[in-house]
Amino acid sequence: MTEWLTWRTAMERALYGDGGFYRRGECPSEHFRTSVHASPRFAAAIARLLVEVDTALGRPNRLDLVDVGAGSGRLLANILACLPPGLADRLAPTAVEIAPRPPELPAPIAWRPDLPPEITGLVVANEWLDNIPLDVVERTPDGIRTVLVDPSSGAERTGPDPTDEDRDWLERWWPLPEPGDRAEIGHPRCAAWASVIGRVRSGLAVAVDYSHAFGSRPLSGTLTGYRDGSTVPAVPDGSCDVTAHVALDACALAGERAGATSSRLTTQRAALRSLGLSGVRPPIDLAHRDPRAYLTALCHAGEDAELTDPAGLGGFGWLAQTVTIPLPASLAAPG
Ligand SMILES: C[S@@+](CC[C@H](N)C(=O)[O-])C[C@H]1O[C@@H](n2cnc3c(N)ncnc32)[C@H](O)[C@@H]1O
Repeated sequence: MTEWLTWRTAMERALYGDGGFYRRGECPSEHFRTSVHASPRFAAAIARLLVEVDTALGRPNRLDLVDVGAGSGRLLANILACLPPGLADRLAPTAVEIAPRPPELPAPIAWRPDLPPEITGLVVANEWLDNIPLDVVERTPDGIRTVLVDPSSGAERTGPDPTDEDRDWLERWWPLPEPGDRAEIGHPRCAAWASVIGRVRSGLAVAVDYSHAFGSRPLSGTLTGYRDGSTVPAVPDGSCDVTAHVALDACALAGERAGATSSRLTTQRAALRSLGLSGVRPPIDLAHRDPRAYLTALCHAGEDAELTDPAGLGGFGWLAQTVTIPLPASLAAPG
């Protein structure tokens, strides 16, 4: 007999239940390409941001660097490999990840399944929020209904009325005017982000993700599956990653309510360009003067172009929020 589940329950089981996609330690880079795996230059840019945060905090004796939803831990490992002198001894790098610790991870990186209680420094959450399970609703001729899914096939049918909490979130962030319109109810992501900001005593937290904004939400939602490097139907049976884009504007308000003292919503393209990733090809005369330097610069330009491509990773949203310190200059500029 078919077991009809809400999408939130189905995603929770498929991704994080016993034997779930992430719980069993699937390597994200084998299924999809995040900025972390696209190029170590993403980590180099985050390292520059870390230096700005360190300066704003007055170079504390202990500087936290927390990667939430750390996956393979590659981001932290790459950052450790390009730190400026004098920072490594004070840095406390922590991966927050429910998957098992990879054996080859550098020893200084702490690995834990939950957020540390207090953070002074920098928090990065790259493609974490899109994996927080959520419910889906659809406007029917009889009103808004929660969508139920058969986890083994992905077949759907409409089910009960949304809860009051769901309705409140929909009214504020994703109204559904026409029959057939669907929404993904983002309050679990807002709560997850608020729990991050609530732990930051002083510093910066950055969420990087596929996102959409009020007024331009997709009419039929964004649920997507990823397996072996391809997009596949979002069937929540544990065989694939299941994601949905993030309402980062809603997360921003949740972060402010949790204690953020300044906020910036921008794109990855604008943020990484400010952090020095231009994508500009080196001048051809460098090829004659210093062929090795030319090849290196050409390679960097190609990687920067991928990370800042507005139709790809560069189109991702960056939500940057600080607690007690000003926004770093690299993120404060308009863009
Ligand atoms: C799409 S992967 C991103 C991995 C990495 N940040 C990257 O960019 O390559 C999302 C990761 O978040 C982890 N995750 C999701 N919810 C989590 C939670 N509540 N606590 C810890 N880790 C979580 C998953 O296990 C998964 O490894």
